[in-house]
Amino acid sequence: MKILVVGGGGREHALCWGLSRSRSVTGLLCAPGNAGIAGIARCVPIKIDEPTRLADLADAENVDLVVVGPEAPLVAGLADLLQSRGRAVFGCSKAAAELEGSKAYAKAFMARHRVPTAAFGVFSEAGEAELFIDTLCERGDRKLVVKADGLAAGKGVVICDGAEQTKLEVGKMVTDGHLGDAGRRVVIEEFLEGREASLMALVDGERVTPLAPAEDHKTIFDSDRGPMTGGMGAISPTPVLDDLSVARAVREVLEPTARGLVAEGRPFRGVLYAGLMLTREGPRVLEFNVRFGDPETQVLIPRLDEDLALLLHAVAIGELPERVRFSSRSAVCVVMAAGGYPGPSDVQPPAVISGLERAAALADVVVFHAGTRSEEGRVMTAGGRVLGVTALGDTLASARARAYQAVDTISFAGAQVRRDIGGRSYT
Ligand code: AMP
Ligand code: GLY
Repeated sequence: MKILVVGGGGREHALCWGLSRSRSVTGLLCAPGNAGIAGIARCVPIKIDEPTRLADLADAENVDLVVVGPEAPLVAGLADLLQSRGRAVFGCSKAAAELEGSKAYAKAFMARHRVPTAAFGVFSEAGEAELFIDTLCERGDRKLVVKADGLAAGKGVVICDGAEQTKLEVGKMVTDGHLGDAGRRVVIEEFLEGREASLMALVDGERVTPLAPAEDHKTIFDSDRGPMTGGMGAISPTPVLDDLSVARAVREVLEPTARGLVAEGRPFRGVLYAGLMLTREGPRVLEFNVRFGDPETQVLIPRLDEDLALLLHAVAIGELPERVRFSSRSAVCVVMAAGGYPGPSDVQPPAVISGLERAAALADVVVFHAGTRSEEGRVMTAGGRVLGVTALGDTLASARARAYQAVDTISFAGAQVRRDIGGRSYT
């Protein structure tokens, strides 16, 4: 099989890595890819927001499957375009992608289909939002969450303390346009207490096959402090989502969502990601994504006990498997981010990355590239999340120790690393 992967982050490196190990793969292309992906796939310099050029490439190379990594091209309709040209594609339609593309749509959808989620309101006018904030605070809520409606690369969510801060954040997004169009409309929701987990599932219409659960670490600093990021590290499996909880989340969240999308004429085919808060009352949806998680993919793929290419192709052609097998080992991925992340990272000059080969030579370690670039034979940082260093181990503790051993052999100026990935208390 000849495969084209669309994207150029850590998730796409993990997908390419998994595909390059699939016996069924005879050719692997990636657009645009990155310095790490270039070692295992032919990278083609086409950006993810150039759908016609991507479709032309798929045609010119006559690929058997296109795997779309990021959400933006799905929201823009890339899967529909490829399908209209007769290509098999792993990735959902534009209509189904609205579940991630608009948080306001996702919340209203959940309300319509009784998918459990936090109480909320949607506003594009600051005055109305302020009334809603006062109502929630008067009933006793202290913390509230403000979310930009549109895509904001994981940075559009602010947890606020009290009415004053909440109103301030709403003002920044809705009135001042700090996040551009993505934040002109906001969702304001109640703060949920509990443990967080990510559950992804392969979905085809009403059928749902869960993948192994994972746990992300979203804030930039240790102990879940500081601003939200796209994710600073992940583990899989996670003690917070055992087999029973997975079954419950499938029953109460993923299946009703898949059925609801079919009922609304937007059947889903691809991978659906539910970001869950596991509360005392059961799982509540924090967000839906319509693609593989990043960095969750960097811990799922190394645990996968299947031929990834056959698996993704099967989903693409409507042959959803009933079960997907994973190894019983644990995986931990620690992200190394550029200085300044999650702020505007282009203020940081590119830095040389050293120690990559030594880290990759360690047993049970894979270094996934995200924001990297090759320059005169050297690997340089290109901003954002630079690397995702994944290690496997027989236990969470051993995977974690190995991941940090690898991280400590790598260095670049300004690197930001959380030291507590996989280190939360699970008692
Ligand atoms: P989202 O992009 O909607 O998943 O939000 C990013 C992060 O914000 C989540 O992973 C949670 O850590 C946090 N978060 C979002 N919504 C809530 C909520 N209603 N209650 C508590 N934390 C939340
Ligand atoms: N790690 C969270 C996400 O992929 O959106």
